[in-house]
Amino acid sequence: MNKMTAAITAVGAYVPDFVLSNEVLETMVDTNDEWITSRTGIKERRMLKEEGQGTSFMAIRAAQNLFEKSGVDPKDIDLVIMATATPDMPVASTGVYVATQIGAVNAFAYDLHAACSSFLYGISTASAYIESGRYKKVLLIGADKMSSIIDYTDRATCIIFGDGAGAVLFEPNNEGLGFQDEYLRSDGIGREFLKIDAGGSILPASEETVKNKQHYVFQDGKTVFKYAVSGMADVSEKIMERNNLSKDDVNWLVAHQANKRIIDATANRMGLDDEKVLINIQKYGNTTSATLPLLLSDFENQLKKGDNIIFAAFGGGFTWGAIYLKWAYNKQ
Ligand code: UT7
Repeated sequence: MNKMTAAITAVGAYVPDFVLSNEVLETMVDTNDEWITSRTGIKERRMLKEEGQGTSFMAIRAAQNLFEKSGVDPKDIDLVIMATATPDMPVASTGVYVATQIGAVNAFAYDLHAACSSFLYGISTASAYIESGRYKKVLLIGADKMSSIIDYTDRATCIIFGDGAGAVLFEPNNEGLGFQDEYLRSDGIGREFLKIDAGGSILPASEETVKNKQHYVFQDGKTVFKYAVSGMADVSEKIMERNNLSKDDVNWLVAHQANKRIIDATANRMGLDDEKVLINIQKYGNTTSATLPLLLSDFENQLKKGDNIIFAAFGGGFTWGAIYLKWAYNKQ
């Protein structure tokens, strides 16, 4: 009998209707469509405009989309892992609220925060629970309302990020499909280069921190770019070597959508042709925890049972890594 593996068996997604285009950003900060497109690959991004709504609003809709498509009963879910860097509130887990709202009444839930690698690390966590035999249905949601922590007068960050959500279901598989291997890394050297200074335990919120705009994302883009390019390419190459995968064996690269140039550099190092590299950064920008499931949702029609997928991500912290997974179904 094959070892029990953890397979993705369903996908769902949600993005807000409101579109913020490069042309509109040109009217807000000193930037232009040509610069944004050539430096990042982004043309537009989505923003959640609903008054008083946070990340959970999108996460709930992504999960509901998954249930509608798959026919899975939320009551059968054992665990909800909410990957996010923008929880609804600093205290009171967003995942717990989401699980209750979607009717996953027999599940427990919690949040997992590893900046832009939250969903990648979540794949590792969800898979480990399934492989151990402890749980049968683990719902992993990646969602971020980045617009809630972005300064729309700062051209270094406001052109990059967007809002969105995606969800995947992990279940046991006896055909050897699903999760195969992971190479996950982190390095605290990154803390200074991509962060929000205030609102945490070091520098709690005060009039001063608000005045100084210290509750917004700060990014030293050039430095993060340098680490991201080498970091994402290194781990992707390593996971191929370790699993004896040639460039022909890899069907798809599903990489964090932070910058088209970082994705291209990774694909280059892996020797992959463009048609194997899933890209939707032009539509959504960097949605942090939602980039990987949004790719799976957008390209679900093209993924075939048995396809070899390499997931790769790089984010604040620094956190990064690659995961090798075999796709487990053909979309009906
Ligand atoms: O997802 C988490 C991990 N994050 C990442 O992976 C992001 C990594 N970093 C990046 O993607 C890139 O560094 C950015 C897209 C953020 C910036 O691109 P860059 O090619 O590194 O630009 P830069 O910061 O080196 O700036 C180049 C020039 C500068 O002008 P000078 O000094 O050459 O005259 C900037 O002032 O472009 C200028 N610039 C802009 N111009 C128009 C910076 N931002 C903008 C802008 N519009 N929005």
